[in-house]
Amino acid sequence: MKKILLSSILLSMSLFAADGYEVYKNKCQVCHVEVMSKDYALKHFNELVAPPMVEVSGRLKENIKTTDEEEDVDRYLFILFVKDYIVNPNLENSMCNTGAIEKFGVMPSLKGKIKEDEKQAVAEWLYDRYENTKFE
Ligand code: HEC
Repeated sequence: MKKILLSSILLSMSLFAADGYEVYKNKCQVCHVEVMSKDYALKHFNELVAPPMVEVSGRLKENIKTTDEEEDVDRYLFILFVKDYIVNPNLENSMCNTGAIEKFGVMPSLKGKIKEDEKQAVAEWLYDRYENTKFE
């Protein structure tokens, strides 16, 4: 009986994919603030340790643009970029401006600290969360 219960718990757990917002809160929020106005960010630049997520999302969307009519393609490429960047951050791939990089340094890698499904979930969240929220 116990065995059956345990295996059904394990089964139901694996059916729930990681929740992107939970991943953000556990693994990104210490450095990246979720939402902040541009004005506030400029005034409090010294207190920041990383660009706010709303800015990251917007900048990546501006940069990762194909001529493909389908928005899905850009979203897909955005997700690929984020999944790769968080475990393999580096100066060449960063889309952050030089001033910000000088202040923050390159993001420390989360390799070994984030699971595959968590990477996928947080990358999707990063795209979808800011669909109607701009950094301004
Ligand atoms: C220890 C602090 C820290 C944590 C934790 C952290 N980041 Fe970062 N991240 C940074 C810094 C600093 C930068 C800016 C420098 C750079 O681009 O590497 C950055 C940059 C990024 C960029 C690239 C932005 C660009 O414009 O190129 C992405 C994407 C990103 N972070 C996503 C995440 C996600 C998703 C998580 C959580 C799973 C996360 N970060 C956790 C510090 C952090």
